[in-house]
Amino acid sequence: MEKINSIAIDGPAASGKSTLAQHLADHLGYLNLDTGIMYRAVTYAAMQQGVDLADAAACTRVAENTRIDIRPTAQTDGRPVDVLINDEDCTWAIRQPGVEGNVSIVAAYPGVRRALTEQQRRIGLRGQVVMVGRDIGTVVLPEAILKIYLDASVEERARRRFEERQQEGSQETYASVLESMRQRDQLDEARAIAPLRPAEDAEVINSDGRSIADILTQTLSLLETRRHGR
Ligand code: DC
Repeated sequence: MEKINSIAIDGPAASGKSTLAQHLADHLGYLNLDTGIMYRAVTYAAMQQGVDLADAAACTRVAENTRIDIRPTAQTDGRPVDVLINDEDCTWAIRQPGVEGNVSIVAAYPGVRRALTEQQRRIGLRGQVVMVGRDIGTVVLPEAILKIYLDASVEERARRRFEERQQEGSQETYASVLESMRQRDQLDEARAIAPLRPAEDAEVINSDGRSIADILTQTLSLLETRRHGR
């Protein structure tokens, strides 16, 4: 298989994938595409339209007909990008617990995955993309020159997510964040199509207790090695 000069970063929620991807993309001058945004956008659009989330065909139609735009932002409210769904700014709306609680259900439908995977693959094949998700190394872009599977313990990931939530002024408890993270892991790992798992040739990195600078250095050195075919 001919290698493509794009990087796949997979792993469970809050393992540090987005932070690593942002640093890598900045360092290399690559496009950073977080595919979780697309699954969240479809879930949000379906909820807004009153679609029954148990109806796979209806959710698939939403995935096929929703225009998702991810753009560099001029806002200063902490958002990494602007997310537009059918031209409406939904950057924060897709991060709300309502979407978070349902996204694994919608992301498990084959039709939804087909529609989004097609778009992601087209972008990734152009090269010079850091793509973040659950199935990038296994399904979307198996040709990626480097595949990272970034892991961390569920307690550490829940603590990170809990701190983010507190900064946003949320009343959610650590116990409830931990519980919903466990449920989401379980759904993402157990689904029949494109389950969360490392690709055979992925580099598995555990981020527990490690700094981003440290992980970035390791990733860049792995990239050098892969580029030289070692
Ligand atoms: O990374 P995230 O938390 O924003 O992802 C939201 C959900 O989307 C997550 O529950 C799993 C799903 N997802 C997926 O199934 N495949 C991807 N490539 C990216 C995300």
